[in-house]
Amino acid sequence: MNKENIAGIKSRFFEDISNSQTEKSLYDVKVKYVGRNGELTKILKNLKNLPPEERKEIGPLANRARHEIEKAYEERKKELGERIDWEKEKIDVTLPGKKEEIGSLHPATLVYREIEKIFPLMGFEIVEGPELETDWYNFTSLNFPFDHPARDMQDTFWIKSDKKKLVLRTHTSPVQVRYMEKRKPPFRIIVPGRVFRNEATDAAHEHTLHQFEALVVGENINVGHFKYIAKLFFSAFFGKKVDIRLRPSFFPFTEPSFEFDISCTVCAGKGCPSCKNGGWLEIGGAGMVNQNVFVSAGYPRNRYQGFAWGFGIERLAMMKYKIDDIRWFESGDLRFIKQF
Ligand code: DAH
Repeated sequence: MNKENIAGIKSRFFEDISNSQTEKSLYDVKVKYVGRNGELTKILKNLKNLPPEERKEIGPLANRARHEIEKAYEERKKELGERIDWEKEKIDVTLPGKKEEIGSLHPATLVYREIEKIFPLMGFEIVEGPELETDWYNFTSLNFPFDHPARDMQDTFWIKSDKKKLVLRTHTSPVQVRYMEKRKPPFRIIVPGRVFRNEATDAAHEHTLHQFEALVVGENINVGHFKYIAKLFFSAFFGKKVDIRLRPSFFPFTEPSFEFDISCTVCAGKGCPSCKNGGWLEIGGAGMVNQNVFVSAGYPRNRYQGFAWGFGIERLAMMKYKIDDIRWFESGDLRFIKQF
């Protein structure tokens, strides 16, 4: 047992660890030299049997060698750990790619965008109003007399409030008066927005929905203008020629009032299951603005004429995208939204 032995062990150890390419083989090398029966361990164990002179010389050498070995082992282990494992890193370029999930727009948003693209081309301004309304703008200013049964047409969410009577607006019509208070005719606006009804919901009724209102006011506006604008809009929206049909109706804020239909977008009016063979699809309400509404807004009576209409955005989306139940819109169900 001598110094040369220890130097030899050390240099073999260094050679072995630099040849080790995995942590497992590195560990085996460590065991071989400083494990329980390792080469260096044997020398250390044997120290006590050496004559004192030799022990004094070999002891420190062997101990230092052990420290060096352990330190070198740790360093090499770290080095191997940081090394890139090319086996694991290998990329198989023939595998199918992972699809990036990008969101899609809600169908109501799609209709909004379409409307907001088409109307400005016809000189319309896009206007918005508050969702929490006063009784005045939602009803009274629109010629719904207090306690008149016309109010029952719109099941209303009333808000508890000490001051004014507040409602979640039941339609976008209140923005008519809000806008006219600030502007003088002539003008043409559309008003898209969210409205609320205290409905018993079913496939055709929802408590939260979207409407859009149109209002065109000037000195010589008549029903012909309404029909023409409606025809242009619906033809652009559905991408095909669409006809308009009016039926007499009643709304407090228009006189005369009508419901209007468009020719069926599936069969072009011939009759098919989509239009229940009638050839027409019911769209919404419209009419010539009642002079009482102009008066509510501060205009003189009988000075101006205008037409207005209002209908449901969801209803349009249902027609365009063939959706069978309005309750999908507020459902938050991703399976529904992802289809658009
Ligand atoms: N505001 C009505 C509703 O929600 C729809 C409507 C009808 C709007 C006639 C109009 C109109 O502007 O002229 O039931």
